Amino acid sequence: MYSLKELDDIIARAVASLKFVKEPAGLYEPLEYMMSIGGKRLRPRLCLTTFNLFSDNIDQQILQPALALEIFHNFTLLHDDIMDRADTRRGQLTVCRKWNDNVAILSGDVMSILSYKYLTGYTGAHLGQLLDLFSTTAAQVCEGQQYDMEFEDLPMVTSGEYLNMIGLKTAALIACPAKMGALIADAPQAMADALYDFGWQIGLAFQICDDYLDTFGKAQVFGKKIGGDILCGKKTWLLVEAFRRATGEDRTRLDAIMAMDSATQAAEKIAAMQQLYIKLGVKEAAVAAIEDYHARALEMLSGKGFSDGQIQQLRQFSAKLVHRED
Ligand code: IPE
Ligand code: IPE
Ligand code: MG
Ligand code: MG
Ligand code: MG
Repeated sequence: MYSLKELDDIIARAVASLKFVKEPAGLYEPLEYMMSIGGKRLRPRLCLTTFNLFSDNIDQQILQPALALEIFHNFTLLHDDIMDRADTRRGQLTVCRKWNDNVAILSGDVMSILSYKYLTGYTGAHLGQLLDLFSTTAAQVCEGQQYDMEFEDLPMVTSGEYLNMIGLKTAALIACPAKMGALIADAPQAMADALYDFGWQIGLAFQICDDYLDTFGKAQVFGKKIGGDILCGKKTWLLVEAFRRATGEDRTRLDAIMAMDSATQAAEKIAAMQQLYIKLGVKEAAVAAIEDYHARALEMLSGKGFSDGQIQQLRQFSAKLVHRED
C-alpha cells in the first residue's frame, strides 16, 4: 500500500497534466481556470485511496475515473456559485464573477459531459456498474441542490430534512468515489458497499464542517467569504440547531437576526448570528456533531473483513478531512 502522501502526489500530478484549452477559448478557459486554482482534490484522492486498499497497480484505469470525479465536482461548484451568489472560491474570483453567469453555466455543462469521457477511460468489467453509480450520484447532487435552494425560502427545516439535503448534495459525491475505487480494484461487493456507507457518513461530517467554517472559519484559509450562508438564508447545521435550542428571548433574537437585510446590514447580521450561535452552544455542538459522524463512518467498516492496515489508512484519511480549516 502507498502512503496517503504518495497517493496525493499522484493525484496532484494527474490533475496538473490535464489540458483543456481549445477553441472556443471562451468555453474552455474558465474550465482550465477552475481546475488550476487549487482545491483539496478530496474525491479523486479518496477514490485512489480505496482502490489502493486492494491494488497497487495504479494506471489510467483508475486515474481516469478519479479525474472524472474531480471534473464533475468542479462542474457542480461552477453552478453552485451562481446559485449561492458567491464571489470567491479557493481564494480567487468565482467563474461567475470573473466572467459571468452564462459562461459559468456553459463551461459547467461541458465539464459535466467531459467527466463522462474520463469515466469511460476505465474499460474493465465493472463499467456498467460505474456508469450507473456515477449517474445516480450526479442526479442526487441535483436533487440536494434543489432542496438547498428551496430551503432558503422556508422559515426553517427539521434536522431530518437538513440531513437528507446534505446527504444528496454532498455525501453522495463522497460515497461514490469511495465505492468506485473499490470496484475498479475488483474488491468484494460487500466491502465496496461498506466503503460507500463510510463515504456517506464522512460526507455528512464534511458538509457540517463546511457549514461550520462558513461561519467560524478564517477567510484566508477557507478561501470563501465568511458569512455567505447567513446572508443567503441557508439552512445550515448551525441554523437548524440554533432554531432547535432557542427559546424565549433567544428565539426572538434569532427571528430578528434572520429578518435583517442581507444587503444593507450584512456585517451586523453575520456578527449577530455568530454571537447567538456561541451563546446557544451551537458552535461547540457542531464540532461534536462532526466527530460523531466521523465515528459513525468508521463503524461502517467494522465486521466487513477489512484488515487493520486498511482500516488504519481510512482512519488517517478521514481524520484529515474532518479536522480541516480549508
Ligand atoms: C466544496 O467542496 C463543496 C462542498 C461539498 C462543501 P470542497 O470543500 O471539496 O471544495 P474544494 O474542491 O476543496 O475547493
Ligand atoms: C456544497 O454546498 C454542495 C455542492 C457544491 C454540490 P455549498 O454551497 O455549501 O458549497 P460551498 O460552500 O459553496 O463550497
Ligand atoms: Mg450551495
Ligand atoms: Mg455554495
Ligand atoms: Mg458551504
